[in-house]
Amino acid sequence: MQIKNVGVIGCGLMGSGIAQVAATAGFHVTVLEAEQAFLDKGFRGIERSLAKFAEKGTITEKPETILARLKGTTSIDDLAGSDIFIEAIVENVPEKHKMYIALDGVAKKDAIFATNTSSISVTELMAVTRRPERFIGLHFFNPVPLMKLVEVVRTIATSEEVFEAAVAFATKLEKVPVRTTDSSGFIVNRLLVPYLLDAIRAYEEGVGSIEDIDNAMKLGCGYPMGPFTLLDFVGLDTCYYITHVMFEEFKEKRFAAPPLLKRMVMAGWYGRKTGKGFYDYADPAKPVVSKNL
Ligand code: CAA
Ligand code: NAD
Repeated sequence: MQIKNVGVIGCGLMGSGIAQVAATAGFHVTVLEAEQAFLDKGFRGIERSLAKFAEKGTITEKPETILARLKGTTSIDDLAGSDIFIEAIVENVPEKHKMYIALDGVAKKDAIFATNTSSISVTELMAVTRRPERFIGLHFFNPVPLMKLVEVVRTIATSEEVFEAAVAFATKLEKVPVRTTDSSGFIVNRLLVPYLLDAIRAYEEGVGSIEDIDNAMKLGCGYPMGPFTLLDFVGLDTCYYITHVMFEEFKEKRFAAPPLLKRMVMAGWYGRKTGKGFYDYADPAKPVVSKNL
């Protein structure tokens, strides 16, 4: 199975990173966005990231050579030649279903569909398409250009050939694939999400301040980021959507959204991407804990 052309849907935090690593690995990549402004923002991030890698000498080609393999579009028809589609739009079943129905209308018969969902059942997403055996999960981690892991998720309908092609594709992106079945949150979020939600509950119960809980987990456990820094980094909106899907799946309290998370999302505090979450990023180099939490 030859993969040359990659279609990425969504150019936000994850889609922009996925497009970048695919172009860096030599694939021709077309990225679809809902609006030109989001595409421009995503491409600015890619350019910044490639410039850092060029400065450090960790990429062998010039950024402009890699960028020449990347094309942005707001028209789904431009993705028709893709051999694999990687969808990274909002964590919402109706939105993703709409997208897959539209993609089925333009995609080649043998193209592979992959979702970067964090928590939604891959089988549920696959169900609206005409290609159950060619549908998989490819779950990348944030920030995609730096994080080595990709969870490759198979459903009971995924063909062996497609699953192995997806594992080989992830390897070509210089990622380390792990194989997993279609259970909400797969491996990482099954373990990570309750930990992040417990940090919020610990704060709500007065166990420690936001900064102290972050420092405790960084300095006490060697984690690269404390839980609140990581929640802001992932996006509180995305975390909130994930809790709904995982709670619905398992009906366990450890996956339920703490009230503070809900309030922050309702107030539009999505973390780094909106400039405010558990921390205020007015000066991005020196975040301070947000007031009134
Ligand atoms: N592209 C290129 N270089 C980048 C970059 C990017 N996107 N982001 C950061 N860098 C560079 C920085 O410029 C910096 O370079 P220098 O050393 O030359 O200064 C270097 O990487 C390290 O960055 P920082 O100094 O800013 O910060 P750091 O040492 O803390 O490393 C990090 C950053 C790799 C993100 C690290 O903090 C980390 O691993 N954090 C945890 C991330 C994590 O847990 N991700 C998973 C989230 S969950 C998920 O993704 C699944 C889901 O479904 C929600
Ligand atoms: P994001 O909000 O940063 O980006 C989503 C992008 O999709 C936005 O730019 C939006 O304009 C675009 N979009 C929405 N509807 C669209 C449509 N119909 N057509 C084209 N583009 C559309 O979100 P994100 O953090 O990149 O998350 C995307 C997906 O990746 C979600 O399923 C999320 O659960 C998953 N994920 C997120 C993380 C993380 O740490 N943020 C990690 C792994 C997986």
